[in-house]
Amino acid sequence: MNAYFPQRRHRRNRRRPTVRALVQETRVQVQDLIQPLFVRDGTGAPEPIESMPGMYRYPLPALVEECGRIADLGIPAVALFPQIATAHKDAVGRHVREDQNILYRALRAVKAAQPGLWLIADVALDPYTDHGHDGLLTADRDDVDNDATLEVLTELAVREAAAGADWVAPSDMMDGRVAAIRSALDSADHAATGILAYAAKFASAYYGPFREAVGSQTAVTGAPPLDKSTYQLNPANRREAVNDALLDEREGADALMVKPAGPYLDVLQTLRQRTDLPLAAYQVSGEYAQIHAAARLKWLDYTAIRDESLLAIKRAGADMILTYFAAEWAAEQA
Ligand code: PBG
Repeated sequence: MNAYFPQRRHRRNRRRPTVRALVQETRVQVQDLIQPLFVRDGTGAPEPIESMPGMYRYPLPALVEECGRIADLGIPAVALFPQIATAHKDAVGRHVREDQNILYRALRAVKAAQPGLWLIADVALDPYTDHGHDGLLTADRDDVDNDATLEVLTELAVREAAAGADWVAPSDMMDGRVAAIRSALDSADHAATGILAYAAKFASAYYGPFREAVGSQTAVTGAPPLDKSTYQLNPANRREAVNDALLDEREGADALMVKPAGPYLDVLQTLRQRTDLPLAAYQVSGEYAQIHAAARLKWLDYTAIRDESLLAIKRAGADMILTYFAAEWAAEQA
């Protein structure tokens, strides 16, 4: 009898929870997480978002309260998204210039109540346009007009900074927006406000629940779901994504983001190797909805799959994760 003994035994380092903890390469920490939150006009109770269990559109007082809870959990940052009332929407996003815009009011209120919380505000026009696109349309309404859009985006970014945003986060995917926003912020005396660029943002079907949450799923007029593929990236293209993201770095971004996260871990990993800037990944609404849906059907173990999804995003190279699970996950670590 000639017994065979493997020469290398990797299982030695997996024998006990103790040794597994010692050799663990990647950990998710509360300090890595950013909680996205939705804010709406008006008063009353937070409105549940059907396809995002546990997520709400908060009226101002409830938003401030929720931000207090998030800060107490040790989460460093929140990203605020407004649901703009239909009456305030038009083709060119005029409401961006309105000081009473619920987003600016929210930034001011949260900044005053929680000065230690890092505030992130999206820069894109989709909450403000009646057609739901992230920018202004060309004269023939056939596409988004890049350079005309930049003028409104810079105005939005400067107003967000003035209202208290610490990072403005262009999510529009227009060409040249990071340079334009950097220059507008600097001229308006907001040199301290940073730019978290949605550097590699794909034209993804995973944004569906978010568009329901902010009311931009279809045009106000009720057209078919929006196609943003003339500005958001083709899901088939990694090289193009990396190229586009690295341009945001050269234009002055302080941190880069990949979005969605889970289906684009290869992009995250490649970008990690190509930039020394901090990297964020956005685990988007559809990724969140998928996990909840499978858990409801009892087809997957909710906590296990949630935690594995976050760990995988960190392992691929994210320094920070925007995730709707942030507060819930942080509360469980305490
Ligand atoms: C707006 C924006 C979107 C998301 C963040 N900012 C939607 C879109 O581009 O259509 C999606 C976030 C999510 O799905 O959780 N430009």
